[in-house]
Amino acid sequence: MTLEMTPPVVVPAPARIRLTGQIGVLQVPTALKQSVVIPTFNERDNIGALLERLTAVLPAGETEIIFVDDSTDDTPDLILQAAMDCPLPVTVYHRDHAIGGLGGAVVEGMRHARGAWIVVMDADLQHPPEMVPRLIAAGTRDGADLVVGTRYAGGGSTDGLSAGYRRLVSSGSTLLTKLVFRNSLLRVSDPMSGLFAVRASSLDVGELRPEGFKVLLELLVRNRPGRIGEVPYAFQQRHAGVSKSSFAEGARFLKHLAILRFGAQRTRILAFALIGISGLIPNQLALWLLAHVAGVHYVPAAIVANVIAVGWNFALTDSLLYRNRRHRSLSGRMTRFFLMGNADLLLRIPLLAVLVDGVHLGVLVANLITLVASFVVRFLILDRVIYLNKPKTLEAAG
Ligand code: GDD
Ligand code: MN
Repeated sequence: MTLEMTPPVVVPAPARIRLTGQIGVLQVPTALKQSVVIPTFNERDNIGALLERLTAVLPAGETEIIFVDDSTDDTPDLILQAAMDCPLPVTVYHRDHAIGGLGGAVVEGMRHARGAWIVVMDADLQHPPEMVPRLIAAGTRDGADLVVGTRYAGGGSTDGLSAGYRRLVSSGSTLLTKLVFRNSLLRVSDPMSGLFAVRASSLDVGELRPEGFKVLLELLVRNRPGRIGEVPYAFQQRHAGVSKSSFAEGARFLKHLAILRFGAQRTRILAFALIGISGLIPNQLALWLLAHVAGVHYVPAAIVANVIAVGWNFALTDSLLYRNRRHRSLSGRMTRFFLMGNADLLLRIPLLAVLVDGVHLGVLVANLITLVASFVVRFLILDRVIYLNKPKTLEAAG
């Protein structure tokens, strides 16, 4: 098979993606044995060594390298440069919007991959490039759909996780994930691995809704691959640059877990419940200060306490829960939220009066009962009216 090099080209990209360049493409496309998909975010100093080591272990005629890049530095340009001297065909997709983060990038790469095997690995050489042919060989030998590079089984290691707390976070989140998804993950010792090979024919890319780092977990839970193999490897030190994992990625991971486990709608209900419960603190505290400390009558005190708690709830709901669904203006969202949050006073105040003056409950206990009663009603209004949630049937049809 002959490999003809073509000069770098910049091709207009499909929606949202700029195809930065494509180098050394085979003139006559043949069935490729493997596509290596590599997500990059500011990895300029790792590209050269990475491509060199991949070239040493992969035959040019059977391989393509796909970078999906969300960098804010010149990484995509450096990839193009390095690709000029690289016998392997290299493609770079640069995204202007890093939708789904690392996982979104990987899935984007999978959509473009043409190989019979798709191998996903990091760009920072923590995953030894020499593992690529070994994963595929194991998968072919065992007839597996998925082969995971594992740090947690025979011979694997996490030596490259430098700081002690990184190991703790890593093994803690692995344990949590295995508890949450007992059945789907029984056969996998390292479900958080970022290094794996998947047989393209077994992949259903349309099913994947990745959210951040744990794209393998997404694949395991949603695609339910048939036979799964594992190959141990030693997680290396980062070659250059810095890790992109962060506290925000950790929070995103918990959200990803909840969505995978409960579904998006029930996760929102859960989060809404937690925010609502947290609102009890400012509410009861304000009521106590006004009614018991300052001696204000319990009715105006309950009203002011409610306004304060609604402000607290709005801040959390709007910034954490519906950050991506702010279709209305801030004042529009706030006015509706406050109207709804305080409208329940129409129901709660008479109920409060009955409980306090009729049943002779304490003001704080009575207030708590009325708050719990209004909770369910408010969620339904919030989800359907303020944030315009589409009914399920519409989503399924669309
Ligand atoms: N395109 C894109 N977009 N790439 C990203 C993004 C993003 O938003 N965030 C990170 N990456 C790329 C990095 O450039 C790197 O190539 C790879 O994803 C992994 O990122 P690191 O910052 O090196 O992550 P890590 O070392 O903390 O985590 C890795 O190891 C974990 C196991 O400990 C990842 O492979 C995880 O998936 C894995 O679970
Ligand atoms: Mn890394």
